[in-house]
Amino acid sequence: MNTEANIRHSWAEPYKIKMVELLTMTTIEERERAIREAGYNTFLIRSRDVYIDLLTDSGTGAMSDRQWAGLMMGDEAYSGSENFYHLYDVVREYYGYKYFVPTHQGRGAEHLVSSIMIKPGDCVPGNMYFTTTRLHQELAGGTFVDVIIDEAHDPASSHPFKGNVDIRKLDRLVQEIGAERVPYISLEGNVNMAGGQPFSMANLRELRSYCQERNIPIMLDATRTIENAWFIREREEGYSGKTVREILREICDLTDGCTMSAKKDALVNIGGFFACNDEQLFLKAQNLVVVYEGLHTYGGMAGRDMEAMAQGIREAVMEEHQAARIGQVRYLGEQLQAAGIPIVRPIGSHAIFLDAREFLPHVDQDDYPAQALAAELYLEAGIRTMERGNVSAGRDPETGENRRPALELVRLTLPRRVYTQAHMDVVAESVKAVYDRRHEIRGLKMVYEPEYLRFFQARFEPL
Ligand SMILES: Cc1ncc(COP(=O)(O)O)c(C=O)c1O
Repeated sequence: MNTEANIRHSWAEPYKIKMVELLTMTTIEERERAIREAGYNTFLIRSRDVYIDLLTDSGTGAMSDRQWAGLMMGDEAYSGSENFYHLYDVVREYYGYKYFVPTHQGRGAEHLVSSIMIKPGDCVPGNMYFTTTRLHQELAGGTFVDVIIDEAHDPASSHPFKGNVDIRKLDRLVQEIGAERVPYISLEGNVNMAGGQPFSMANLRELRSYCQERNIPIMLDATRTIENAWFIREREEGYSGKTVREILREICDLTDGCTMSAKKDALVNIGGFFACNDEQLFLKAQNLVVVYEGLHTYGGMAGRDMEAMAQGIREAVMEEHQAARIGQVRYLGEQLQAAGIPIVRPIGSHAIFLDAREFLPHVDQDDYPAQALAAELYLEAGIRTMERGNVSAGRDPETGENRRPALELVRLTLPRRVYTQAHMDVVAESVKAVYDRRHEIRGLKMVYEPEYLRFFQARFEPL
């Protein structure tokens, strides 16, 4: 642990730049054309038309020289690659689970867990939904039930652990349907849809003892759990003297298994895994992975990708990395707060979330205010962000109506180790410029709606 990094005030990066990628600057006319051609959906803009890309922190981080060197060590044997064994050792060391199955990315692992553990008619409680996670649960015949604390649905609440599970809500569900119809609880670290909000260790301990008494496994979505560990250290009593690495391990030891999108915390462009402690569950996952992903010693990844991931995990638990990562997000968030722009509080680890309801109170939720705001930010300065509101939430399978979630957000997601402080200043200035002309912004009409995960490919027209 680098104690100097812990006591310093600046969040300066613990690396220097060795190679750069040139960006395109566009004119307003070019951006108008690009967003129109993209059907006002930022997912459909070509990346060459984007100046600062805050669409996602998924697979967009910059790898270190050591990770690039690792690519050269790729052992591309179909079976038994050395890189698989190296990655397995690293996952065991840092996450601690006994068994491990690589997958091509997070949703590959979600598919395995959902199809093995969920029976039709089951309910899967979770601390707020994630899009792909919930869809896999539904495709397996389950129903997702939100058991996160109420504060998570209130963008203005500054509760330090908005990712906590409300054990009373969970108990109500268990009492109603019986523990045998709850195959597991889906627990996400640094809850993405709530604004990157952590759970506390105290809450996890309480959850653990509740679940143990009823034989309900806890499946962790470990995608951003290292960042969750940072917040536990920063905010929870008794943890200020522990390392991120120790806290990560403590979290994992209180759970039964995890799915992982390595494209976030683990600093790689592609990859994921499923890990668990139960041998029978592992054997089923190991068998199923060969059907959907690839052999159990590569799971859809190249050997070189597994090597880069092993090194990425080592770098992700470094205190100085997390100090800079979370420091940069906070730097941007504090500028927006100072300008009076409504954002989700407290500032999370991976993104700033604009509260589109407050930003555009004159736009009805069925006219997709967050989608419209994301399009405006692109028009303003070529900054690409993502809607996390009514479009992402999709339709209720029972009623067919839009779900109209409590949170109607635009996510400005920071790729890891990619942009500079000056880029953050440009983003803050651009959001302020859009805020100043917010009264002119109108909503959107959806003109094409795909069946699954509609936010990726839906098309819109201005009202
Ligand atoms: C919390 C969470 N879980 C799961 C996933 C799915 O992972 P992937 O995109 O690697 O399939 C994501 C991706 O954004 C995520 O943020």
